[in-house]
Amino acid sequence: MTEAGDLPEKRRWCRSCRSWFLVILVLGTVFFFYNTNKEQMLFDLNPKTLWRQLKNPKQSGATHPAGVNTSTPASKGTVTALLQNENITLSMATGANQTTTNASSAQQTMSPLPTPNPLSPYIVEYPYEYHFIINEPEKCKQEKPFVVLMVPVAPHNRAHRDIIRSTWGGESLVHGKVVMLFFLLGKQSGDGAPQLQEQLLKESAEHRDLIQSDFLDCYKNLTIKTMVMLEWLDAHCSAGVSYAMKIDSDMFLNVPNLVNMLLTAPKTNYMTGLVARGAAVLRDPKSKWFIPVELFPHPQYPRYALGLGYVLSLDLPKKLVGASRHITALYIEDVYLGFCMEYLGIPPTDPPNWRYFQVNPVWYTRCAYSRLIATTTYENTNRVSVWKDFKKPGPYC
Ligand SMILES: *[C@@H]1O[C@H](CO)[C@@H](O)[C@H](O)[C@H]1NC(C)=O
Ligand SMILES: *[C@@H]1O[C@H](CO)[C@@H](O)[C@H](O)[C@H]1NC(C)=O
Ligand SMILES: *[C@@H]1O[C@H](CO)[C@@H](O)[C@H](O)[C@H]1NC(C)=O
Ligand SMILES: *[C@@H]1O[C@H](CO)[C@@H](O)[C@H](O)[C@H]1NC(C)=O
Repeated sequence: MTEAGDLPEKRRWCRSCRSWFLVILVLGTVFFFYNTNKEQMLFDLNPKTLWRQLKNPKQSGATHPAGVNTSTPASKGTVTALLQNENITLSMATGANQTTTNASSAQQTMSPLPTPNPLSPYIVEYPYEYHFIINEPEKCKQEKPFVVLMVPVAPHNRAHRDIIRSTWGGESLVHGKVVMLFFLLGKQSGDGAPQLQEQLLKESAEHRDLIQSDFLDCYKNLTIKTMVMLEWLDAHCSAGVSYAMKIDSDMFLNVPNLVNMLLTAPKTNYMTGLVARGAAVLRDPKSKWFIPVELFPHPQYPRYALGLGYVLSLDLPKKLVGASRHITALYIEDVYLGFCMEYLGIPPTDPPNWRYFQVNPVWYTRCAYSRLIATTTYENTNRVSVWKDFKKPGPYC
């Protein structure tokens, strides 16, 4: 695992010396093929398989960004690769080095037509000055919550928002601590967008829990949503607020267990969730999470917390936004935060109990759900009736 101390030094070291970068590239390629033969690096969305791999990393195949493999040495200093790639993807990296920028614009003027960047499908328009269309700038300052729950959701998905409001999102005082809920939205495009925006304004007036920014809301732009969320947390929730949790809208969340865990958690430089180590970079272009070698040559990602639900101390948003100025923004949001964390030299930590965060849907029983913090749910689950049952008085197990 990458240790905090050796990173910045390694970065300087690689930057100043191009030949070392080439050596690392060659080693990385050799390691990649070695790894490919050893374990076929199949892409498999089946949660069952994923679960097996998470529990039993020696078995074949890694999945998602989540294919966890603790048996191989960790991706040490992988973030250098993305820093180096500033040359390729510089139009996206405003933090790019001045000399690099000039060199490449010279290259562009030499070719008569600017060739489209083949890597652009895998990077997002960030950093960029997006604006909030719907905002709640004062709520954190007024109520100083102990934890803010941030739920990314598509603008049209009112149904998900209502379910969350009437279940775990409605828990506003837990163990004497204030918990707040916000939904994160981008902008809708296409037919019906003005009408939808109208409805969103009404919904916002009613619930005061929508945060909407003006980037285009789509799957490939999730990294933008996450980074805009961090900018928002830094601007509006960093004073007096302790933690934030980003949680997907199809999850079940046990808020009391979350608060309990955080009561004894570190107050700074803290990020936890289901932490993937040495996850394989997926090289099959058909994979949902494909990343071309040209963008990131290393075979494994740095340590990162899976996007389904992760918790962070509220000193981190500012630091992560700062780090994002130096790292090419990949479209895989949780992996991208992993790169930013590695840049900062702050590895995400495991939760105190491995059962707390579940990527594979846990079948509902009062007992099972009383022992976890967050789990994915089966698509056909009636989450409102599950919630009603869970909140009934009486013993859980
Ligand atoms: C980036 O491009 C510049 C100018 O072409 C070059 O001097 C520099 O070594 C390149 N960096 C890397 C990491 O390839
Ligand atoms: C850009 O990088 C070069 C060498 O890599 C360094 O000398 C220079 O100071 C850097 N400039 C900026 C603005 O970071
Ligand atoms: C790079 O470009 C900037 C502005 O475009 C210019 O001021 C600067 O002199 C250029 N640097 C080099 C090394 O060409
Ligand atoms: C992501 O958002 C940006 C900014 O709104 C937009 O230009 C881009 O087209 C969006 N990406 C996709 C894949 O829609």
